Amino acid sequence: MSTQRAKRVLVTGAAGFLGSHLCDRLIAEGSDVLAVDNFFSGPKENLAHLAGHPRFELMRHDVTFPLYVEVDEIYNLACPASPVHYQHDPVQTTKTSVHGAINMLGLAKRTGARILQASTSEVYGDPSVHPQTEDYWGNVNPIGVRSCYDEGKRCAETLFFDYRRQHGLPIKVVRIFNTYGPRMRPDDGRVVSNFIMQALRGDDITIYGDGSQTRSFCYVDDLIEALVRMMATPADVTGPINLGSTGEFTMLELAAAVTELTGSASKIVFEDLPSDDPTQRKPDTTLARNTLGWQATTPLRDGLERTIAYFRTLVAEVQ
Ligand SMILES: NC(=O)c1ccc[n+]([C@@H]2O[C@H](COP(=O)([O-])OP(=O)(O)OC[C@H]3O[C@@H](n4cnc5c(N)ncnc54)[C@H](O)[C@@H]3O)[C@@H](O)[C@H]2O)c1
Repeated sequence: MSTQRAKRVLVTGAAGFLGSHLCDRLIAEGSDVLAVDNFFSGPKENLAHLAGHPRFELMRHDVTFPLYVEVDEIYNLACPASPVHYQHDPVQTTKTSVHGAINMLGLAKRTGARILQASTSEVYGDPSVHPQTEDYWGNVNPIGVRSCYDEGKRCAETLFFDYRRQHGLPIKVVRIFNTYGPRMRPDDGRVVSNFIMQALRGDDITIYGDGSQTRSFCYVDDLIEALVRMMATPADVTGPINLGSTGEFTMLELAAAVTELTGSASKIVFEDLPSDDPTQRKPDTTLARNTLGWQATTPLRDGLERTIAYFRTLVAEVQ
């Protein structure tokens, strides 16, 4: 009889968009997954299909409180990622990033687990360097309405590296750029979900500013592949490593692609740009290519088609 047991992996923020896809991937690979979430911005339905799986367990828990479990790896994804959600209770957002990091790092220290932090391109703020490389320190407003998220994530990175320096923890920090795909929330205010929902409902498509600001969009499957590869790197690979797509699209181009692929007759309308909204953001992913042998490969149109198919089922369910 084999004595080898499945790897025990904790995913925080597991009911969220990225967390739920990561759970699928880890279960498919044979890991024993402990999914933790307080369901603030991720619904239980995202994990409903895994309920009853013998290697899957879902626990309601808020990462701002300590957690005592035995695990081999921790993916720390808990944190609302869209501005509508993280600005709803900004103090809780900072607590989730900072106290959540302390609690998960404490757990990693106690159990000897490897720990990966889902950081963000927002640590670069409104960047003056394009494309952003990991050694750029960023241009972040510390007192703006986005600061609870940006500064919370920056502080979490600090904690990860201090736990590494002080306690020798095997940490991994990835800075995720705009990612999209099925299971994004239709009401989360992110540009891809906004445009698709507006197009499917035949509403006007709202572009903030003049539409010339650019973003790069990474399809969720590509991103999950990178997270898993990062966790598997040797202990001396800590990051931070940028993860995202390097294809750059203006908001106008994205709106045009969405209207075409949905076959929508929606009009494009323009509104004022929100404060602290960066004009351009695109990762330099050289480090990810060299360290992980990874780059985002799903073309935007393919990813949009899969995402639109998901949103179509949501719209059909409420009709
Ligand atoms: N999606 C992206 O484009 C993107 C970009 C950069 C960084 N990230 C990071 O990746 C992670 C996942 O993002 P996402 O897009 O899946 O967001 P999401 O909002 O869909 O998922 C976050 C999950 O964390 C949970 N959560 C929030 N506060 C919690 C707490 N205190 N305790 C336990 N659970 C809590 C939420 O309920 C939700 O299920 C986040 O940390 C986010 O900052 C995502």
